Amino acid sequence: MIKIGIIGCGKIAMVRHIPEYAENPNCELVAFYNRTHSKAVKCAEEYGGKAYETIEDLLNSDVDAVSVCVANADHASVTIQALKAGKHVLCEKPMATNLEDSIEMVKTAKEMGKFLMIGQNQRLAKAHVKAREIIARGEMGRVISFQTNFCHPGPEGWTGKKDSWFYDRKVAAFGVMADLGVHKTDLIHYLTGEKIVNTIAQLETIDKKLPDGRPIEVDDNAFAIYTLESGAVGTLHVSWTNYGEENNSTIIYMEGGTIRCYDDEEYSLLVEKKDGSVEKFALDLLTSNKEQTSGGRTSTGVIDAFVDSILTNTPPSISGESVLDTMKVIFANEESAKKLSNVKII
Ligand SMILES: NC(=O)c1ccc[n+]([C@@H]2O[C@H](COP(=O)([O-])OP(=O)(O)OC[C@H]3O[C@@H](n4cnc5c(N)ncnc54)[C@H](O)[C@@H]3O)[C@@H](O)[C@H]2O)c1
Repeated sequence: MIKIGIIGCGKIAMVRHIPEYAENPNCELVAFYNRTHSKAVKCAEEYGGKAYETIEDLLNSDVDAVSVCVANADHASVTIQALKAGKHVLCEKPMATNLEDSIEMVKTAKEMGKFLMIGQNQRLAKAHVKAREIIARGEMGRVISFQTNFCHPGPEGWTGKKDSWFYDRKVAAFGVMADLGVHKTDLIHYLTGEKIVNTIAQLETIDKKLPDGRPIEVDDNAFAIYTLESGAVGTLHVSWTNYGEENNSTIIYMEGGTIRCYDDEEYSLLVEKKDGSVEKFALDLLTSNKEQTSGGRTSTGVIDAFVDSILTNTPPSISGESVLDTMKVIFANEESAKKLSNVKII
């Protein structure tokens, strides 16, 4: 039985990590730590295990692995501390707030012989897995273009607070580009099997205000035009100001037709062929903020994959190393937006 500790007992821990560990028969939730101790106590009362007063005490215990669910600014330091204490780590996205820290996390995992997995759950959504398979088979030819979107009403719909840390540059590092853009940038790498080699990005704060009426400190809308290794060019739009229905869609335009992921209410995957035929797949729901905040329970598969990887001593497919290319693009987007010009990613 794998012993699990949770570091950061906030929203994502409560709606995803903790319940998904609790349902996995191969692990046991034994330890909780949160900066505000009462939150850790609440978790221990509900799920069993012990609430620790310090992170050191938790890491000195016999836990095998931890989930790092703290705010963005502390992902790297907490992950590195846990790896150095000999624990496997599942760290939430965005992996870190700069490239040096991201690389250091990967290096530390290697040195310690421990697994580092990142919570890029979009790679496990069934329509994405199937779309990747279809693209890799090659029968639809090459990717010409794409359009990926992740647009919802913003973190206050998730946290219930109007002045959430997601709006504080020191803690969040940057806004919707790091929060949602990291998912869809990673997804483009995953679906196409290609690297993004050039970006032109624009990061804007258009609408979101703090409770005192000042604009938030980070981007609430972010746009990028990505070029892939093959020369395919596509767009990313991520937004915290979509006050209508969530848009979590990705459309891949190929020589042989169009693949639509989560673009249709009934069919999570549509494959529209050039000859006019359409293959329709009703595979799953994408785990959405709306669904999770209303108590819905679509499993992301992230926790099961992490536990499996430890159990079978197999490196996780969503390894820290596999997310480095995505982080490079995210930081290049910030640079591009500042310079008002394109940035090549090497
Ligand atoms: N994979 C996804 O789709 C997804 C979805 C939502 C959130 N997230 C990520 O999960 C992380 C947490 O987000 P959240 O929505 O749960 O935020 P949250 O504010 O609800 O929870 C964070 C918790 O961590 C605690 N904390 C902060 N820094 C700490 C530290 N250094 N040590 C111990 N405890 C600390 C806070 O007290 C809080 O309880 C973020 O990085 C976010 O980007 C990922």
